[in-house]
Amino acid sequence: RESFSEKLRVPESLTFDDVLLRPMESRVEPDDADVSTRVSTNVELNIPILSAAMDTVTTSDMAIGMAREGGLGVLHRNMTVDEMVEEIGRIKRADELVIARDDVVTASPDQTVSEVDTMMERAGVSGAPVVDDDDTVLGIISGTDIRPYLEVGESDAVREAMTDEVITAGEDVTAREALELMYDYKIERVPIVDEENRLVGLVTMQGILQRREHENAARDDDGSLLCGVAVGPFDEERAVAADEAGADVLFIDCAHAHNLNVIDAARAIKENVDADVVVGNVGTREAAEAVVDFADGIKVGIGPGSICTTRVVSGSGMPQISAVAEVADVAAPEGVPVIADGGIRYSGDAIKAVAAGADAVMLGSYFAGTDEAPGRVITMNGKKYKQYRGMGSVGAMKSGGGDRYLKEAEEDEEFVPEGVEAATPYKGSLASELHQLVGGMQSGMGYVGAVTIPAFKEKSQFVRVSAAGQTEGHPHDVMITDEAPNYSPDE
Ligand code: XMP
Repeated sequence: RESFSEKLRVPESLTFDDVLLRPMESRVEPDDADVSTRVSTNVELNIPILSAAMDTVTTSDMAIGMAREGGLGVLHRNMTVDEMVEEIGRIKRADELVIARDDVVTASPDQTVSEVDTMMERAGVSGAPVVDDDDTVLGIISGTDIRPYLEVGESDAVREAMTDEVITAGEDVTAREALELMYDYKIERVPIVDEENRLVGLVTMQGILQRREHENAARDDDGSLLCGVAVGPFDEERAVAADEAGADVLFIDCAHAHNLNVIDAARAIKENVDADVVVGNVGTREAAEAVVDFADGIKVGIGPGSICTTRVVSGSGMPQISAVAEVADVAAPEGVPVIADGGIRYSGDAIKAVAAGADAVMLGSYFAGTDEAPGRVITMNGKKYKQYRGMGSVGAMKSGGGDRYLKEAEEDEEFVPEGVEAATPYKGSLASELHQLVGGMQSGMGYVGAVTIPAFKEKSQFVRVSAAGQTEGHPHDVMITDEAPNYSPDE
């Protein structure tokens, strides 16, 4: 073996603040930079951004918001398999034009209005066709029909409350015709029926408008929004259920995917599902070599996250820019996309990760303060915050995901956490955060003179930054008077 002192002759590993992109000759205007990319073998995105699989970041609301803007939300896994299937259904149903019969939430005439109210709320819909046992459409019921009954505390049968003169359309209806019916009759949903008046689908106003509004959305071949799902490496049941429910990409969610048992389990999952399988997290060339033959994507990040304590708790980790570059050296020649996960505070960090070889980036803290993240806004000392916690924090591990850290515990005090529970400033809408993030990345492409992500990865070069250079790079010697939308003095 090498001597111990040999061991200290170590190669330098770098992270975001250690490097900058070298400005280069360019004719590229930032707005013209095309940020579309591939996140896994078969899945393309229109922006190279993913939201983290964390229980304070990505549930269906975040995933819908991300996909509508062209990116991908990855559902966390601190929920039951049934809850996950419901969440995937919500994402897939969100922007459909004709919702297929099996996905239409329907009521029966004999249910009570309060039962239907609860059912609609759980499914995230505001109205439902009322059908009998052989699917004949009898009426339609919406929140507006139900409210008067609930307000006086009565829970009559649906047949009393429903509207029974239903405007329906045939199977060959176009979006324009459906929209005309909606305007003419001032209605928001049109059941699609066959010749015997049996329900075969549903068109909603919301569906039509949302599809028009989100031209850049990331969609599957059927036009539904793309959906990513985190699964534990040893949870094949969840993986198969997510696959069957229509998830597009499964993310094997483990803090150390270079564990050989994890790799064996991930390989088995890959063999049993149709969805793409991204394996992570890893941080070295050797780990990438161990998974590149079967992974549809490789996710990189050992301890860079804002809420991570992996590096201080375990003494192990890899500075993120070097980790991404090592993995990309192995993955890129095989055509396997690389995702840089964690540690991104600014748009500049995100585009540096791409220069280091990433095809897309995943962020947690950046999105945890938006409206689309779960949890409510709290006020402390006059400032607004939302909760943000590591999936390796005690609180999150108690809610289910301890095996991400390959640990089990019976009692709270037995947990050895690798993350903290925190608060993050409230930020408002996801769309405006993404606008800043993507716009900043496009600026980086403009400085390098590359009009596509692959060209940028090829052409970009780094310069090394000293501590003095880092100070120079932030606002200095001034007192900031107005907060910029993409730079906070607190940071
Ligand atoms: P950011 O910096 O975007 O990082 O907030 C999000 C990523 O951090 C990872 N993650 C953790 N890592 N302990 C860790 O060491 C944790 O408790 C933890 N929770 C999340 C994860 O990869 C996420 O995408």
